Amino acid sequence: MNKKTDAFNDKKIMVPFVVPTINSNDKNQILKALSSNLLTDGPNLREFEKNFQNYTRSKFSTGVSNATAGLMLSLKALGISKNDEVIIPDITFVATANAVLSCNATPVLSDVNYEDLNISIDSIEENITKKTRAIIPVHFAGKSCDMKQIMKIAKKHDLKIVEDCAHAIGTLYEKKHVGTFGDTGCFSFYPTKNLTTFEGGMITSKAKRISEFLRKSRNHGIDKSLKDRFTKGLPWEFDIEELGFNFRLDEIRSALGNNQLKRLENMNKQRRLAAKYYHSKLQDIKGISLPSQKSSSNDSWHLYVIKILENFAISRNSLFHSLLSNGIRTSVHYKPLHLFNLYKNTCKITSSLRNSKRLYQEILSLPIFPDITRKQQNLVIDEIKKKIK
Ligand SMILES: Cc1ncc(COP(=O)(O)O)c(C=O)c1O
Repeated sequence: MNKKTDAFNDKKIMVPFVVPTINSNDKNQILKALSSNLLTDGPNLREFEKNFQNYTRSKFSTGVSNATAGLMLSLKALGISKNDEVIIPDITFVATANAVLSCNATPVLSDVNYEDLNISIDSIEENITKKTRAIIPVHFAGKSCDMKQIMKIAKKHDLKIVEDCAHAIGTLYEKKHVGTFGDTGCFSFYPTKNLTTFEGGMITSKAKRISEFLRKSRNHGIDKSLKDRFTKGLPWEFDIEELGFNFRLDEIRSALGNNQLKRLENMNKQRRLAAKYYHSKLQDIKGISLPSQKSSSNDSWHLYVIKILENFAISRNSLFHSLLSNGIRTSVHYKPLHLFNLYKNTCKITSSLRNSKRLYQEILSLPIFPDITRKQQNLVIDEIKKKIK
């Protein structure tokens, strides 16, 4: 694979923001799965679920079409509905809020920590009301939220916890994989993620009742697998008790996910080394604040987010443009939810959101992916350093 190839065919791009890691063995597994007569709801999905369950040491794992579907089904499984409030961070991808809205519940926007952009414990506490039913902590950029405090709050106020683990495949908190603390954990296999099935997701869960609900509701609510329907009795004899959707993860994606899972630790190690390299070369620049390396070995390093402070030579936006004109793609994760028209009208906002407002002026995500070369990283580092000369 040409690591310089830009996803949008811009010939000037020398350092793409992300390059998915699809190797020849992945392609072989995809072709093998494609040659089966059973292309969905089959053995590859079962195997991927089992392996994901073992990898995360979760009690149950349920494959779904994407993490957004995972968040939606989790909230539905936990009974979140109209008049309920669900606390989410102001800095996250829009899917976190959309999942809450899809249950006709109200997202309540919490501030995030300035240091790691994870949901602020103080802000969670200030947002708890009689209507609060759940919290969705997002393990931002691959760094774990403070799950000890969050679970303590959940216990005290009898709240459900749905962990948004879209960034956090391979992230540990006190030696346990994230997604195993709350009622459910939702993982994304979108092409930019640490493990990809192009589109896809997985829900980890603790309770049998929840996992059974998820298994049925991802498949229209049907109470039998395809195999059971066609190998035991009459195929059309199945029942539906609750509304379901088509949020299935097919056999081809499952085969790819299974194969990627074997290399995940190695791919995450490469990300970790890339993060360490950025740190070693950028740490002494005045006006730039770097992500902490403190618990690097527990971090999936999905994103490498730096902060461009007021005393840096140029603004964050000027740096973005300058890097782009020099062939380097960067981005901002994310524009805070309170700035979107939809969420201004549908979310409850009582916090000052002081940190997320400040962070939105300062954050910039640098390119990071397993196959990024030192040469590519040096291009990024040198361009940033040029600004201070
Ligand atoms: C924090 C977060 N939550 C949820 C999602 C949704 O994931 P998916 O694209 O698999 O639906 C994403 C995807 O980018 C994400 O970054």
